[in-house]
Amino acid sequence: MALSRLPGGLAGAQGRYAGETSPALVLVEAAADADTDATTLLAGIDALAEVCSAGTNLILLGGVNDVTLYRNLLRRGVADYLVMPATPMRLIEAVQDLYRDDSKRPAGQVIAFIGARGGCGSTTLACNVGHRLAHQTGADVAVLDLDLPFGGADLAFNLEAPHGIQTLLNDPERIDESFLQRIASKAGEHLHLLAAPAALDQDAAVSGVALEACLAALRQQAGYVLLDLPRVWSEWLRQTLTAADQVVVTATPDLVSVRNTRNLLDLLVTRRALDQPPTLVLNRIGAARRGEVTVRDFATAVRLAPALTISEESQVFGLAASLGKMIDETNRGSKAAQAIRQLADRFVITPPRRSGPAAGAVPAWVGRLFGGR
Ligand SMILES: Nc1ncnc2c1ncn2[C@@H]1O[C@H](COP(=O)(O)OP(=O)(O)O)[C@@H](O)[C@H]1O
Ligand SMILES: [Mg+2]
Repeated sequence: MALSRLPGGLAGAQGRYAGETSPALVLVEAAADADTDATTLLAGIDALAEVCSAGTNLILLGGVNDVTLYRNLLRRGVADYLVMPATPMRLIEAVQDLYRDDSKRPAGQVIAFIGARGGCGSTTLACNVGHRLAHQTGADVAVLDLDLPFGGADLAFNLEAPHGIQTLLNDPERIDESFLQRIASKAGEHLHLLAAPAALDQDAAVSGVALEACLAALRQQAGYVLLDLPRVWSEWLRQTLTAADQVVVTATPDLVSVRNTRNLLDLLVTRRALDQPPTLVLNRIGAARRGEVTVRDFATAVRLAPALTISEESQVFGLAASLGKMIDETNRGSKAAQAIRQLADRFVITPPRRSGPAAGAVPAWVGRLFGGR
């Protein structure tokens, strides 16, 4: 497929295709000076549709972030609308979606949670975010406790859990449609926990190859696969962090966390150059009476602003932990619960991803708009 790049926004595209046959896929970036509001954009789209051939698909890039506009564009048959600045991955996804085989279910998101140091709340956040995502989206959510010798996700959910993670890693081939129902522990509606054995008579090593196979299979079964990662430093862990769709780094406001977070972020930024940056959560603010690093200093030192800050709330976290429940269940109105909802909402794809037409039988934009003219 030949690729060419032309200036001029929607008007430029309209001028161009008035004189020649439009290709199978046109990507137009709205002009910063002309296509500045929803009405102009929609008018521009209609004008462009007039001159494009049936069979042409359009992906629009623009600066207006507005759900009504998005819906109107989809109604007009525009394949996707990307609010700029968009990451290169988002653009690649938009093109992939358009030519995706719809008979396959879209794969679930893998979200890796890692703490900058012990006790910073990474496991707690992974479990609570999982709970929220299952509740909010109704999609199946799998939480994998990958801290084999010391993992505590089963305790967080107050489950006498069969040690699902070991079964999973021993035999990734067993993952089928009913795997989550059969092997995982039910931690809530749509929420499945694959708990760690927490036994010290076994080796703690996780096979990177087995884990990769598990994740590929699990993401076909669940909308979200959340990984509670231990802070061991080995190749399987680096690979898992590199391959995850999203990474959440949780840190506490102290010097050890600053150093570890900076090292982690350096590695992630290099290895995940095309992906969204990790989500940094600064937790347990106010726990130390003295010597705490301020949010600002932390952000400067690690060169990334926290997406979320959570204060030390020992009563709220303590109550949930002692009851083996999630904070949304024990203290819905607390700031901590709000923060967790906010964190989870970052991973809910809105507006919902439209299922793209399969290649070949593309009821394209122009066709849908003008009844196949
Ligand atoms: N913001 C907070 N305020 C008070 N206690 C917290 C907070 N975040 C986490 N905790 C508590 O800290 C302890 C360690 O949390 P955990 O999630 O196991 O950390 P990690 O997995 O990073 O080692 C738990 O008892 C948890 O309830
Ligand atoms: Mg942990």
